[in-house]
Amino acid sequence: MSLSPFRFAIRMPSDHRVNSLTQTLQKVRSEGHSILDLTVSNPTRCGLDRPDPSIVLDPLCAPANLTYAPASRGDRRARVEIAQYYYTRGYTVNPDDLILTSSTSEAYSMVFRLTCDPYDRILIASPSYPLIHELAALNDIKTDAFPIHWMDDHWRSDLDKLPACIRPTTRALVCVSPNNPTGSVLSHSDYQRISACCNAHSIALIVDEVFADYPLDPSRPVPSSVDHAECLTFTLNGLSKVLSLPQAKLSWIHVSGPDHLKSRALEHLEHMADHYLSPNAFTINALSAWFAHTSRFQQPILQRIRNNLNHLSNLHQPGFRVLRPDAGWYACIQVDPRPGASQTDESICLNLLERYHTLVHPGFFFDFDQPGVLVLSLLTPENTFSKGISNLMESIAKAL
Ligand SMILES: Cc1ncc(COP(=O)(O)O)c(C=O)c1O
Repeated sequence: MSLSPFRFAIRMPSDHRVNSLTQTLQKVRSEGHSILDLTVSNPTRCGLDRPDPSIVLDPLCAPANLTYAPASRGDRRARVEIAQYYYTRGYTVNPDDLILTSSTSEAYSMVFRLTCDPYDRILIASPSYPLIHELAALNDIKTDAFPIHWMDDHWRSDLDKLPACIRPTTRALVCVSPNNPTGSVLSHSDYQRISACCNAHSIALIVDEVFADYPLDPSRPVPSSVDHAECLTFTLNGLSKVLSLPQAKLSWIHVSGPDHLKSRALEHLEHMADHYLSPNAFTINALSAWFAHTSRFQQPILQRIRNNLNHLSNLHQPGFRVLRPDAGWYACIQVDPRPGASQTDESICLNLLERYHTLVHPGFFFDFDQPGVLVLSLLTPENTFSKGISNLMESIAKAL
């Protein structure tokens, strides 16, 4: 007989119950209703004009796939291809400053383990991608938020507040640019201010730029952090968004910064990557053929997100405001509650789902501090998007 009952590690969640929006979704579906889903973000399943299947599948038959050739930083030819991708974006990247991973989530975990001891803290520009908190928890790291606000018709990181948010145990600042879901983008001058602050507090900068190829205004490309050398900087990106191939499972970490920190960080990352060797040969050997069709992968997405944003921008109704993104696959709507009403973003979403069979996400999923924010995926097929939005506007008009 054991002396004490078995227990799982405390880093595991206390329960795995689904939230009330998912419960309601399951109920509405079980009643036989089809859903207008305005949260779809899987590019392989939202009716896009995808490249011909042969473009994706033929390169997987490369004879090189018959050989296993492990490389701890990731195959160098693949890193050269990624450097070439940056060159087309206007940046010079040294392939030796890249470490390959199987996903951006894995890249986050590796950089967290590199920079933080257990119970150290990371600071996350928020609202943001909820998985960052989960990944931090899985790596025994605590999180703090530093605010992104809607100010003067724009989403802006409140950089004046940044120094006050840094604690003695803060080890890294995480910025998602373009941000999911606000679509806010950090400028070169923002990076300069952030780097100065990171240097002053000896913390690293982690930039997730997975949506960088998707500016909503074609004349305003998204700046990358790969050329920022003022502080130790990790830039994360990958094929799940660059080529809209999440199933390919290939991402990367680019390291920049002062030489002595950069070379040590690369050695440590290589040491960690060597334990997993996670990138797979099939994807590595297909990379050059796939990158040759980058615009064929990206154009239908750019068209879709710009069409849907245009549709939103032409709508005007009291109590409904588009908080316009600069880039990325999402848009936020501000619903102003009736004075005195006890409406929350969650209650708006539940009502929309039950009465109109229309699914959008409540802002609290992403840690918005202002109430009444809803998050929509601009990747939604245009027909579904316009029907879902008109349902949303009708539900708002009835509540006013
Ligand atoms: C901002 C952001 N970063 C990272 C990821 C995950 O990327 P990957 O599929 O490469 O792990 C997502 C997924 O949607 C995301 O929205």
